[in-house]
Amino acid sequence: MRFLAKYTLLKPLFLIVLVGCGGEGEVGQPIPPETFQPMVSCSEQPALSWENTGRLFLTNWCTGCHSSQLSGKARFGAPGGVDFETEALFLPFKERIEARTGGERPSMPPAGGPSQEERELFLRWTACLGRAN
Ligand code: HEC
Repeated sequence: MRFLAKYTLLKPLFLIVLVGCGGEGEVGQPIPPETFQPMVSCSEQPALSWENTGRLFLTNWCTGCHSSQLSGKARFGAPGGVDFETEALFLPFKERIEARTGGERPSMPPAGGPSQEERELFLRWTACLGRAN
């Protein structure tokens, strides 16, 4: 009976763990934009920019596959036209990139790599794009 009592006590915990693991954040699913709103002001100095943040992250982690300079097998399956080597090429994919590089289970790059800090800095820059402060 003692065992049973213990089990009954723990049961809600098991349930919480199970529910916590379910459904959310599936790979490739869109993540609401508010997830990316930075906790900091967008007017921090020095300002995050394409040059000091966006380009570095994308060059280090993405353009090995997502570059208009690459074709065929050299793209390792990255869809044609989904290229990020300039800010103009990157912009139309901003939201998809946020969804794939952020969240609890980022799915790009496919093999992982960027540290949590790198991802956060990059996503702070994308979140501040087009915002005054
Ligand atoms: C090793 C090659 C490789 C690297 C490096 C890579 N990708 Fe991809 N990417 C792929 C492949 C393969 C697909 C198509 C399959 C898929 O969507 O998972 C893809 C698809 C995408 C798509 C289009 C599909 C969608 O969800 O809208 C986006 C956006 C994307 N990647 C972003 C990124 C970003 C951002 C990085 C860097 C952080 C990155 N990728 C790094 C191979 C790569």
